[in-house]
Amino acid sequence: MITILAIESSCDDTSAAVIQDGYLLSNVTANQKVHKKYGGVVPELASRAHQANIIPVVDAALKDAGIIVSEVDAIAFTRGPGLLGSLLVGVSFAKGFALANNIPMIEVNHLHGHIAALFLKEKGIAHYDPQFPFITLLVSGGHTQIIKVSGFFEKEIIGETIDDAAGEAFDKTAKILGLPYPGGPLIDKYAKLGNPNCFSFSRPKVGNTDFSFSGLKTAILYFIRDEHKKNSDFVKENLYDICASVQFTIIDILVEKLKNAVKQTGIKEIALAGGVSANSGLRDRLRAEAAANHWSLHIPDFKFTTDNAAMIAITAYHKYLKKKFVGQNVTAEARLKDI
Ligand code: KG4
Ligand code: ZN
Repeated sequence: MITILAIESSCDDTSAAVIQDGYLLSNVTANQKVHKKYGGVVPELASRAHQANIIPVVDAALKDAGIIVSEVDAIAFTRGPGLLGSLLVGVSFAKGFALANNIPMIEVNHLHGHIAALFLKEKGIAHYDPQFPFITLLVSGGHTQIIKVSGFFEKEIIGETIDDAAGEAFDKTAKILGLPYPGGPLIDKYAKLGNPNCFSFSRPKVGNTDFSFSGLKTAILYFIRDEHKKNSDFVKENLYDICASVQFTIIDILVEKLKNAVKQTGIKEIALAGGVSANSGLRDRLRAEAAANHWSLHIPDFKFTTDNAAMIAITAYHKYLKKKFVGQNVTAEARLKDI
């Protein structure tokens, strides 16, 4: 039996998970509420909260899994990309844990983790892995990419954002509207109550499979500023319609580029990954597109969409099988590439 403890601490969620022979046994996450009032993650506060959370979170993950420390065969951690101070907490914990228990360490790229979440299995729950090669739309707070995945360790980026990520487009819109961070889930909630065709925003003109969201952010900022001049209650009176219209625009941009990637590659095995894959509008739209275009669609279980250690654990399990270990000289990498 192979038992792995995994840690995720790249941004503002402290998470630990235990996986055994590829089946998830536990996944515990402490969300940091401290950033809410600042309209974004404050790196210094995030690292401090990780330090306070990591031991209780690991403890809870081991207990939930019914595993004791001496049964753990390897410890995995997110090496990057992410906030350096946040990553350092996870990396340092993993080093100490590996040294104290004389077990190997496995580094995981956070983005690889988001894609690997599609392979997470739990005992007694039916699951269908995506078949290689597949196309992933990876949409998170820091990244927006279209990736061709030909094997567990074979990936090729075929499109990405030239500026903001899709999650940032949600979060920055929320900030403009005076909503707390992270704005994505709130916009999702309000969008359900509004008319997506009420307001229209122009689409970016970038390459076939590339994205750009900074123009949209500016368009929303100016639109709200101009309307506010005419009616200081504009946002309050139109909040649901604004959220529905912005969300519709972001989804439409994502889907158009994904369709271009399908055309370009001829691959109809499609997957969605990353925090923005929690968006109900995006999930519904992709289901409709899959039915209309005969795609085989894979969407992660809702609880594995935003940052979690389960996705780090499943990546680490595949790395363990290939004996891809790292030594004590490993460092956290805020801009880690090579997904
Ligand atoms: O993957 P993730 O948890 O962290 C990063 O790796 O960045 O993604 C976080 C992003 C945030 O921008 C958040 O607003 C967005 O995912 N998000 C959503 C939803 N839930 C989370 N965006 C739209 N709708 C949601 N329901
Ligand atoms: Zn993430």
